[in-house]
Amino acid sequence: MAGTGVFAEILDGDVYKYYADGEWKKSSSGKAVAIINPTTRKTQYKVQACTQEEVNKAMESAKAAQKSWAKTPLWKRAELLHKAAAILKEHKAPIAECLVKEIAKPAKDAVTEVVRSGDLVSYTAEEGVRILGEGKFLVSDSFPGNERTKYCLTSKIPLGVILAIPPFNYPVNLAVSKIAPALIAGNSLVLKPPTQGAVSALHMVHCFHLAGFPKGLISCVTGKGSEIGDFLTMHPGVNCISFTGGDTGIAISKKAGMIPLQMELGGKDACIVLEDADLDLVASNIIKGGFSYSGQRCTAVKVVLVMESVADALVEKVKAKIAKLTVGPPEDDCDITPVVSESSANFIEGLVKDAKEKGATFCQDYKRDGNLIWPLLLDDVRPDMRIAWEEPFGPVLPVIRINSIEEGIHHCNASNFGLQGCVFTKDVNKAILISDAMETGTVQINSAPARGPDHFPFQGLKDSGIGSQGVTNSINMMTKIKSTVINLPTPSYTLGNGGHSKL
Ligand code: G3H
Repeated sequence: MAGTGVFAEILDGDVYKYYADGEWKKSSSGKAVAIINPTTRKTQYKVQACTQEEVNKAMESAKAAQKSWAKTPLWKRAELLHKAAAILKEHKAPIAECLVKEIAKPAKDAVTEVVRSGDLVSYTAEEGVRILGEGKFLVSDSFPGNERTKYCLTSKIPLGVILAIPPFNYPVNLAVSKIAPALIAGNSLVLKPPTQGAVSALHMVHCFHLAGFPKGLISCVTGKGSEIGDFLTMHPGVNCISFTGGDTGIAISKKAGMIPLQMELGGKDACIVLEDADLDLVASNIIKGGFSYSGQRCTAVKVVLVMESVADALVEKVKAKIAKLTVGPPEDDCDITPVVSESSANFIEGLVKDAKEKGATFCQDYKRDGNLIWPLLLDDVRPDMRIAWEEPFGPVLPVIRINSIEEGIHHCNASNFGLQGCVFTKDVNKAILISDAMETGTVQINSAPARGPDHFPFQGLKDSGIGSQGVTNSINMMTKIKSTVINLPTPSYTLGNGGHSKL
C-alpha cells in the first residue's frame, strides 16, 4: 500500500515529505498542498509546500553532489540505475495505486507505467555506458591549409544540475525519462513533480533513495507553482531544464537563462485516412489513439481527417467501438475514467458546447458526471470550431471530412502544434510523400501516434517543443562536448603498411 512498508518513512501524519540531501523532510513552511482525487473530487493526499529557501538548499546540495558524481565511474552509475529500476518494478503495486488515486489512471495502465519506467531506467543505463564511453578523434589535415599537427579528442561531459519537470499524465514515466539520462551522464537533478502525480513521483524517488544514490544528487521538491515555479525555472543554479507539459513551457523558455532546454508541450495529432485504408485497422487505432487514458496524452489522436468517400463507413465503425468502451472509476480499470480536474472537464465542455452551437454532428449524447466525461465523437467538424484546433485533453474527438489529401495536409500544417501525426493507406509511396509534407516531429504510418518504444526519438515542431527526447537523445542533450587538442611540434603521419616490405 502507498505510504506503508518501505514507503512509511516518506509520510509524516497525512502529509508526504519532500526529498533533499538524501533525507525525507518536512517543510519549514508548515503548509501543505492538497491533491484532489479526480474520481471522488475529495482530498486524497497532501504534500509539503516547500519554500524558496528549501529550493535554494536543494540546489546547493545538487551542485556539490554533482562534482563527486561526475567522478563516479560510468559502470557504477549504471549499476545504481539498474538497482533503482529493479526496486521500482518490485514496488509497482503501491506506486500504481497512487497513479489510480491522484490522476485516475486505469488500474492496468498504472502498473504498465511503472514497469515501463523500470525498463526505461535499465535501457538508459545500458545505452549510457556505450555512448558515453565513446568520443571522437579528429586530425587537423582534413581542413584546408593544415598539416597533421593537431589531434583533437572529444568526450561528452555533464552539464551540472538538471531541473526536471514532468506532467500529470505520466508523473513516473516522464520523470524517469529525465532522471535516468541526467544521472548516467554525470549530472545531478532537482525534480519538481506536478501537484497531481506528486505522490506517485515521491514513491518513485524513494526507489532511487533505496538504491543508494549519493546524498544531494537527487532532490524532489513539492509545492505551489506560484511560490516555487518561476523561482525554480529561473534559478541561477540550474544548468538545463527538461520540461513536459502545456504552454507553460513557452513562458519558461522565455524566462530561462542561457541554458539548454528540452521541452514537449503537447500536440494536435492528426489522423489522415485515405480511401484505400483498412478501415477496421483505422477504427481500432482511433479508439486506442483517441480514447486511451481518456485522451489525456500529448500523442493522442486529436483530429481525424478522413476522405469523404469513406467517412460514413469509418464513423460507423468507430461509433460501434465507442459503444463498447467501459466508463467509470480507474479502480475498475475502465477505459474511460474521470479527467484530471474539474477545470479540465469544464474546458472540454466548453469545446463541446462551441461545436454544438456551430453545428457539429454528435455521434453520441454528451454526458458528464463530475469529472467523468463519456466518450464523444463529433462528426462534420469545420475549421471555424474550436475543437478543430484546440487540444481537449479529454475523450472528445473531432472528425473533419476532406475531399483531397492536400486538404488534410493543409489542416495538419495550419496547426500551431507539430508533435506527431498518422496516415492510413495501403500505398506506402503515398504515405512517404504525405509524411514528408506533414510538419510534425513524427509521422506514424498505419498506426496511432505514440512516444514509445521509449528509445525512439521523440520531438515536436513549432509550439510542440524544443529538442528531441528518447533515451539516446536525452543523454546527449544532457551533456556537452569537451575537446582536448594535442599540438605536435612537427606534422606526423602514420604510414600504415606502405613502409613494410614483404621481402
Ligand atoms: O503525454 C505525452 C506523452 O509523451 C505521450 O506518451 O505516447 O506513451 O502515451 P505516450
